[in-house]
Amino acid sequence: MPSSPENKGFGQGDPALARWAEEVFRPEDAVLREIRERSVREGLPAIAVGRFDGLHLEVIARAIGALKAVEIGTLGGYSGVCLLRGMGVHGVLHTFEYSEKHARVASDSFHKAGVGARAHVHVGVALQMLPEVEAEAPFDLVFIDADKVSYPAYLTWAAEHLREGGVVLADNAFGFGQVHLPGGDENRAGLRKFNEELARGGRFRATMLPTAEGLAMGVKIR
Ligand SMILES: C[S@@+](CC[C@H](N)C(=O)[O-])C[C@H]1O[C@@H](n2cnc3c(N)ncnc32)[C@H](O)[C@@H]1O
Repeated sequence: MPSSPENKGFGQGDPALARWAEEVFRPEDAVLREIRERSVREGLPAIAVGRFDGLHLEVIARAIGALKAVEIGTLGGYSGVCLLRGMGVHGVLHTFEYSEKHARVASDSFHKAGVGARAHVHVGVALQMLPEVEAEAPFDLVFIDADKVSYPAYLTWAAEHLREGGVVLADNAFGFGQVHLPGGDENRAGLRKFNEELARGGRFRATMLPTAEGLAMGVKIR
């Protein structure tokens, strides 16, 4: 399966329009830029969410008044900082990452961003580690951004552990531009199943935010 471009596009394909939007909305400040750059310097893959995707996460977390959130796929902490910014001073994030190196870089990021006390990094395979936080359910928000083959299982976990009215978000829902094509590998199949279940499984009212990567969003209704 192909992967994300390092410089993710935004908007309807016109680079001048995307530059204008970035100039007006300023989605990435110096703290986030430092995290993106340090993560790459430390040897992490350049697969953090795009600048506007980070802003979407912050604004959505703010809009729903999220106080307890789960992130699956931490990398260097970029999206986690965005979520924590949206959750205000009382918000807590549990974020799951199987690479110890990524988790270390993320912990530095959370501390540098001033949100270290509210970020709990769980190191290990997410599906095995998620039970560690189930006693704190129901959560307000779950952000899925790890191995694509497990997206359907992550969605099932979110449906069981979000409050009604809570939000699930998932990056890369367009499957790197290929989710709609027949065939493909287990990752594409996982993303296709995830989208179908989110859209039509009956637990969420869902939509697709048409970012470059596809940011799927569902509100839990039952
Ligand atoms: C796309 S990156 C996450 C990017 C991050 N959300 C951001 O925007 O800053 C995916 C991360 O998930 C981690 N990962 C992949 N599969 C995992 C699994 N099964 N359990 C835990 N972490 C996993 C990878 O090591 C990688 O750091």
